[in-house]
Amino acid sequence: PLITLDSITDLRTTLKAARANGQRIALVPTMGNLHQGHLTLIETARQHSDFVVASLFVNPMQFGPGEDLDAYPRTFEADRDALETAGCDLLFAPTTTTLYPNGLGEQTRVRVPRVGEGLCGGARPGHFDGVATVVALLFNLVQPDVACFGEKDYQQLAVIRKLVADLHLPIEIIGVPTVRAADGLALSSRNGYLSADQRAVAPALYRTLVEMRDALAQGDTINRVLAQGVSALEAAGFVPDYLELRAIDLGPVTQETRQAVLLGAARLGPARLIDNLVVSLP
Ligand code: PAJ
Repeated sequence: PLITLDSITDLRTTLKAARANGQRIALVPTMGNLHQGHLTLIETARQHSDFVVASLFVNPMQFGPGEDLDAYPRTFEADRDALETAGCDLLFAPTTTTLYPNGLGEQTRVRVPRVGEGLCGGARPGHFDGVATVVALLFNLVQPDVACFGEKDYQQLAVIRKLVADLHLPIEIIGVPTVRAADGLALSSRNGYLSADQRAVAPALYRTLVEMRDALAQGDTINRVLAQGVSALEAAGFVPDYLELRAIDLGPVTQETRQAVLLGAARLGPARLIDNLVVSLP
């Protein structure tokens, strides 16, 4: 049965017992409204540990003014059931007051330079400070041996890897491939904001990335491929935030770069969708 806790004291007591039993502990941080992407992270965590902790916290610090903090879907009962079925051992679902007792303004923050800048960090100022801060806090509370994050949020995964390296945290970070619907759309809690018509358009984001990958493989120039990608997204009905090609460490692409990643964010009606695709350059 799934243990559900909202108190830091109870969390520490339960984890202390698991650790005393020699169990290897995994952490899967989430904001809830769980779908098969999240549950695949739980499954991966199970394969790498003996005791799987999921956290559920809609982190106000990573939402900008005018973003969807209030609208973000909250489906606690269904999430708890799904975690139990997936074989999660402990759900930690704290309140905002528990995690940030002195309020956001007084809260010590963690900022990851460079890798958190540009892309989603450019479009959403302060977003990755909020992510890095809450993940550092959760790492400190749970002290997991291993933690799982989705490749769907490519830049977020890079920020977490840098955070762990820079703070010398003894935590193994596992990136999990993006789980997609049959039509290619990356599963996301924000897909729920889409109307039926918009949902039919949404797979064009991934399809555009695939077309761009194929054009690059055939030797088309990067600038031409990026311009065609933006046109394709606009023609489908998206308002692109960015569409970029970066080296897989998110540094700039140079003449020597062979493995790169296409990253896109685009608004479709009320939803802001992101996706990415690793590509080989000729
Ligand atoms: P959330 O959007 O709930 O995602 C939780 C985890 O699930 C992240 O690691 C994300 O990359 C992963 N994920 C989401 N959709 C996925 C998909 N289709 N395939 C594979 N993995 C997927 O990301 C966050 O929450 C927050 O920023 C968080 C890290 C919890 C910090 O607040």
